[in-house]
Amino acid sequence: MPTTSAVPTYGSDIYEDDALLEPYEHYRALRELGPAVWLEQHGAFAVARHTEARAVLLDTDTFRSAGGIALNEPANQAILGCTLASDGDLHATLRKVVAHRLTPRALRPMRDLVTERADELVARLVRQGSFDAVSDLARALPLSIVPDFIGWPQEGREHLLEWAGANFDSFGPMNPRAERAMPKCGEMAAYGAEMVRTGNVLPGSLGAGVLEARDRGEISTEQSMMLMLDYLAPSLDTTISAVGSAVWLFGQHPEQWDRVRADPGLIPNAVNEVVRFESPIRAFGRLAEVDTEIGGIAVPAGSRVLVIYAAANRDERVFERPDDFDVTRSNAVQQLGFGVGEHGCAGQGLARMETESLLAALARDVTRFRLGAPERALNNLIRAFGSLPVTVETGS
Ligand code: HEM
Repeated sequence: MPTTSAVPTYGSDIYEDDALLEPYEHYRALRELGPAVWLEQHGAFAVARHTEARAVLLDTDTFRSAGGIALNEPANQAILGCTLASDGDLHATLRKVVAHRLTPRALRPMRDLVTERADELVARLVRQGSFDAVSDLARALPLSIVPDFIGWPQEGREHLLEWAGANFDSFGPMNPRAERAMPKCGEMAAYGAEMVRTGNVLPGSLGAGVLEARDRGEISTEQSMMLMLDYLAPSLDTTISAVGSAVWLFGQHPEQWDRVRADPGLIPNAVNEVVRFESPIRAFGRLAEVDTEIGGIAVPAGSRVLVIYAAANRDERVFERPDDFDVTRSNAVQQLGFGVGEHGCAGQGLARMETESLLAALARDVTRFRLGAPERALNNLIRAFGSLPVTVETGS
């Protein structure tokens, strides 16, 4: 632990249940304490302010992802060398194999399919009147799109949500949630490896592209096993979180929904605002490669640094009235919820397309969301609901 008295410290466990349920006062305290704050419970520096969070994410020479993404060593070792947890040339090679399939241009042919599925789903749910915005809406669309896009075989799909959630839990501190997640992460890794061994992926899919890259000698078999999961693991819970939060926020702020309905052109900005306000991924870590500083706070080489996107996205230094949900916010696009720089979210084009399509379909018919009692789903990394009953009103 650093000894200099100039380092502000914070004693609370920001991963205990209550903190995960109500994180924003912790994040405010961290921002007020300084540009980097030593988390006594987690053995890491928290970066909660926007300017420094962005700077850390962009300085990939100093703040490395390999060995640094998770707050515990077993998880860091388990994922070492995957896209998320690699640096420099290796990271560039891995990203090149698949990320081109997710650029806005490459995704253009997907738009019709995503829009059609979103329209059908929303039409059915609106007819139904009452539904669960998590299981019936938020989960349904990504599950009907992403596994096919990745090329995941039909068998094994029943485990996807459980495995993906475990993957995110495993990146927290080694608390009971992370401990419970570890065996499931192992099962997911074994399944990904089996897909590569058997070649059991859907033709033309992202997974098929991974196998072709392996066959051309661009990546090793081990790397292809990781790449099978690199895009699946982060693609479900994140989007599900954003869609669930959107319904919850629009249910609580009907005047914001009126604005979206009056001007559907606001939907892309509204998605940025949802991701800013309720960042689906709370935080990811980095490892300081050399002795350095963050906003004048000394950070010794080898330190863990936790970049809290969800705290940076409520930073009053950048966002006026940060605790107000405002779909017309002029700088919502500055939110860091998708990360930024080399490791910035490779799937955000798809996530935005899914979320925007659902909101557009809802905006056509739904005048009000009447919320029932929501249940939070506790996950070390993902901020989401487990259940969100809603009744929709239609008409003028
Ligand atoms: C609302 C939805 C989403 C959110 C909020 C989100 C958030 C993030 C964040 C914060 C990172 C940065 C990690 C870092 O800085 O270390 C990231 C990376 C990544 N995301 Fe997303 N994500 C979303 C959806 C998706 C989807 C749908 C996919 C896949 C189809 C995806 C694939 C990835 C991948 C592969 C990376 C690693 C990029 C790299 O390390 O180069 N994400 N995401």
